[in-house]
Amino acid sequence: MSLLALDAVRVAYGARIALDGVSLAVEEGERVVILGPSGCGKTTILRVLAGLAAPDQGRVLIGGQLASVDGRLLIEPERRGLGMVFQDLALWPHLSVTGNLELGLRARGLPRAKRKRRIREMLDLVELADFATAHPAELSGGQQQRVALARALVLQPRALLMDEPLSSLDPELNRRLRGEILALQKRLGFTLVYVTHDHGEAAALATRTIRMEHGRIIGQNAPAAG
Ligand SMILES: Nc1ncnc2c1ncn2[C@@H]1O[C@H](COP(=O)(O)OP(=O)(O)OP(=O)(O)O)[C@@H](O)[C@H]1O
Ligand SMILES: [Mg+2]
Repeated sequence: MSLLALDAVRVAYGARIALDGVSLAVEEGERVVILGPSGCGKTTILRVLAGLAAPDQGRVLIGGQLASVDGRLLIEPERRGLGMVFQDLALWPHLSVTGNLELGLRARGLPRAKRKRRIREMLDLVELADFATAHPAELSGGQQQRVALARALVLQPRALLMDEPLSSLDPELNRRLRGEILALQKRLGFTLVYVTHDHGEAAALATRTIRMEHGRIIGQNAPAAG
């Protein structure tokens, strides 16, 4: 059973077709990178997986369970167990790094001691332990990116969806952080669906690359697993 599946998904905005019959299955532990030109439907795939948009036609399955079908959302976004990091990281500016990580854990009803321990472990992993009380505005771009990553991972998602998370960073930082994402994925084993139009990021991260154009998947390839 695939962890994530789209089955003949179509999404249209008025006359504009964002996804035109997309089928895709993602297995547990895979690192799938979706590549394609601007407007081809990459973000829409993530939004449909996350439950932020419902397909007009077709089905979305999460862990084998029907999550969306023909315009209806059967599983709400917060119940899908997916983590998300988008290009605009959407950190809470009024909260510290710890506060940003704590919000989701609190919403899940985790007791305080457990929250604190999970946050400390995660900040160690992304090497932000010294910045636990800092606010996002006091952090560099790369540090902010790592907070967003940590905030998603601290909830132990079944899969992490990332939408061009590194595209606003300079090339050197981009390369360093893609290495960090890869190392974290190998260590924690989460399933990754990663959208980019940067072939270097795709080559570094992917166990499988999906190429899209005009709302369709036009090719796939699986480089040597690593
Ligand atoms: N909320 C919306 N309303 C109307 N059209 C939309 C909306 N969201 C996306 N679209 C259209 O759907 C198509 C796919 O958009 P999507 O955001 O998925 O592209 P993308 O591949 O992520 O592009 P980019 O690389 O620029 O982020 C585009 O033609 C876009 O204009
Ligand atoms: Mg996009």
